Amino acid sequence: MAARGRFITFEGGEGAGKSTQIRRLAEALRASGIACLETREPGGAPGAEEIRTLLVTGATHRWEPMSEALLHFAARREHLARTVWPALERGLWVLSDRFADSTMAYQGRAQGVGEDAVRTLYRVAVGEFFPDLTLVLDVPPAVGLKRADERRHDETRYERMAASFHENLRAAFLDIAKRDPARCAVIDGTRELDAVAAAVRAEVRTRLGAKLP
Ligand code: TMP
Repeated sequence: MAARGRFITFEGGEGAGKSTQIRRLAEALRASGIACLETREPGGAPGAEEIRTLLVTGATHRWEPMSEALLHFAARREHLARTVWPALERGLWVLSDRFADSTMAYQGRAQGVGEDAVRTLYRVAVGEFFPDLTLVLDVPPAVGLKRADERRHDETRYERMAASFHENLRAAFLDIAKRDPARCAVIDGTRELDAVAAAVRAEVRTRLGAKLP
């Protein structure tokens, strides 16, 4: 039987560069003979993608914050049970564009659901399962929102939230990383793409022992 794969999550505010960096890391892993799966939250499984549409489109205040946290965890459970856990069992490395730290930052902190409530939901919906490594791509909100605005898309519900919301998010992600340094690494996402990609590979090499260039 194949050894269990590793679960790596990418976190950060809007326009932090997560999707580009996931693609770059996946290419590096594959070139080194490590099979991997790129996925995202909310989403990554059929039901979870349907829930995603409910969450990322429409009026900013369409959900009561706790309902929104519950929807994210419902999507997450589908994603884990149908996509992530089976892939890890097969030995694949799974790279996820966002995971539960996003619920802690967006709903728990910026939307006021509270950290204890999010921890409780995590225990119920996810259990004793955690990422092997979480890479927090840090960029000032002004930089990230400008980047997010430049790509044409219709998933703008969170991007349209107030400036203070995005400042809260950044502080929340930095706090999460500080409290859990064994799992999390903060990477300066304002640098050139190649420099950020090299920093990502360095963390994966040193923390997970992957043989990467
Ligand atoms: P994306 O823009 O990175 O694809 O993520 C979709 C949006 O969903 C993003 O604005 C952040 C938000 N989000 C939450 O609010 N809570 C969560 O738990 C997750 C996974 C995402």
